Amino acid sequence: MTDRHPEHQVPLADLLEDRLRSGTARVVVVGLGYVGLSLAVGLARNGLVVHGVEVELERAALVNAGRSYIDDVDSRELAALVAAGRLGASTRFDAAREADAIVICVPTPLRKSKDPDISFILSATESLVPLLRPGQLVVLESTTYPGTTEEVLQPRLEARGFTVGDDVFLAFSPERVDPGNTSFTTANIPKVVGGVTPRCTRLAAALYRNVTASVHPVSSPKVAETAKLLENTFRSVNIALANELALACRAIDVDPWEVIGAAATKPFGFMPFYPGPGTGGHCIPLDPLYLSWKLRLNGFETRFIALADEINHSMPRHVVSLVADALNDRGQALRGARVLVLGVTYKANVNDVRESPALEVLHMLADKGAAVAYADPFVPQLEVGALKLVAEPLTRDVLAAVDCAVVITDHTSFDYALIAEAAPAVVDVRNAMGPLRARHRNIVTL
Ligand SMILES: NC(=O)c1ccc[n+]([C@@H]2O[C@H](COP(=O)([O-])OP(=O)(O)OC[C@H]3O[C@@H](n4cnc5c(N)ncnc54)[C@H](O)[C@@H]3O)[C@@H](O)[C@H]2O)c1
Repeated sequence: MTDRHPEHQVPLADLLEDRLRSGTARVVVVGLGYVGLSLAVGLARNGLVVHGVEVELERAALVNAGRSYIDDVDSRELAALVAAGRLGASTRFDAAREADAIVICVPTPLRKSKDPDISFILSATESLVPLLRPGQLVVLESTTYPGTTEEVLQPRLEARGFTVGDDVFLAFSPERVDPGNTSFTTANIPKVVGGVTPRCTRLAAALYRNVTASVHPVSSPKVAETAKLLENTFRSVNIALANELALACRAIDVDPWEVIGAAATKPFGFMPFYPGPGTGGHCIPLDPLYLSWKLRLNGFETRFIALADEINHSMPRHVVSLVADALNDRGQALRGARVLVLGVTYKANVNDVRESPALEVLHMLADKGAAVAYADPFVPQLEVGALKLVAEPLTRDVLAAVDCAVVITDHTSFDYALIAEAAPAVVDVRNAMGPLRARHRNIVTL
C-alpha cells in the first residue's frame, strides 16, 4: 500500500507527531494486564498522560487506587503516577475520543482446537471504532498471526470512512516483555514497529521513543507480526531440542545438564536452552501455533513448529513416568502415593500459572490415583479441574510426610538442601538440585 497523504491532511499527522515527540500526547491503553499495565506505567513515567481501559472492574479500581496486581509493576510508582494525574483507568472506552494514540494489549489465546482466538482483539476494535476521530494513531501490541493488523483492523477502521495513512494511522508493535526479568524491561528492550504506511510507522516509532531508546522500524505490520512469532518459535523449538536431548541422554547414560553446560562454554554459535517439564505461560506454547495456523491457510506446513509442540507437550507425561519410576524403586505404586509438586508457576519467581505444565502434571498424577499436594510461595491456592488445593508450607514435616516430591519450578526461595534431606524421593526436572545429587541418592532428574 502507498502512503497517501493529501496536502490538507499533512498538518494532522504533523500535529500528532509533534505531540508524540514532545511527550505531550494522551494515550489510551486497552487491556491492563502484564503487557498493558507495564506499558501504561512506562509511558506515564515518561510524562505522557495515560488512561487505561480495562473490562475487569476490579483491575480498573485497583489501578485508580494505586495498587498493582502485576509483579513487575511497583505499587508505589503506580500510586505516584495516579496521584500526579498522569495515569487512570476505567471500564469504559470514552477516553479513546480524546486520545492521540490508542494501544491495544488484549489477550490472544488459542481455541480448544488450537486455532487462534482473536475475539478479544475483535471486541476491543468494535468498542473503539465508533469513537475514533481523524488524527489518531492505533497500535496493536497483542501477539497475533501475520496479517491481523491489515486484514482485521484496517478494514474495520476504513468501514467508518477513514483512510489509514491519511487521517488515521495504524501499526503493529509486538510486546517482548519478559515477566520477572529485571535486566530487560520496557525501558531497554528495543521495540519493533511496522505501520500500514511509512507515516504510520514513523508515528508509532515516535510513540515508543517515549519509553525505549531503541525502535526498529520494519516495512509492514506483517513483518512485525511475523518477527514476534519467529522469536517465540525459536524458543519453543530450542526448548523442544533440549527436551529431546534430555530423553536421548538417558538412553546413553550421560547427564544432559552436564552436556549442555559443556557446550555452552563455546563463545559463539551456541546458545544454551534447558530441558524441563514442558513450556508454559501466555506466549511460548501459543504463539508458534498462530504462525502455523496462518501458514496452513496458505498451503504451507511448518514441521518444526508441529514437532516442537508435540515434544514439549509430551514432557508432563514423562515427568509423571519419572515419579512412577521413583516410587517403583521404593516398592510403591503411584496409586495411593502422596506426591508433593514443588512450584506450579510456568517459570521461576513469577506468580503466573497460565499454561503451566505443573497443572497437567498435577492433573495426571491425581488421575492415576496419587494424593497430590503442592508448595509454591507465589500461589496460595490453585484449581486444577475438580481439584481445589491450598499451598503447603515447605517444612521438614511436610516433606517427610510425602512419598515423592517433584521440582517442577525452580523458585530461588526453595530450600533445596532441606528438600534433598527430608523428602524420601525427589524428581527434579529443572536441575535445581544439581550439586546435591552427588550426595543424595534419593534425587533423580530428567
Ligand atoms: N505476558 C507476557 O509476558 C507477554 C509478553 C509478550 C506479549 N504478550 C502478548 O500481549 C497480549 C496481552 O497479554 P497479557 O499477558 O498482558 O494478557 P493479560 O491477560 O495479562 O491482560 C489482558 C487484559 O486485557 C483485558 N481485556 C480483555 N478484553 C478487553 C477489552 N475488550 N477491552 C479492555 N480490556 C480487555 C483483560 O481483562 C486483561 O486484564 C497477548 O497477545 C500476549 O500474547 C504477553
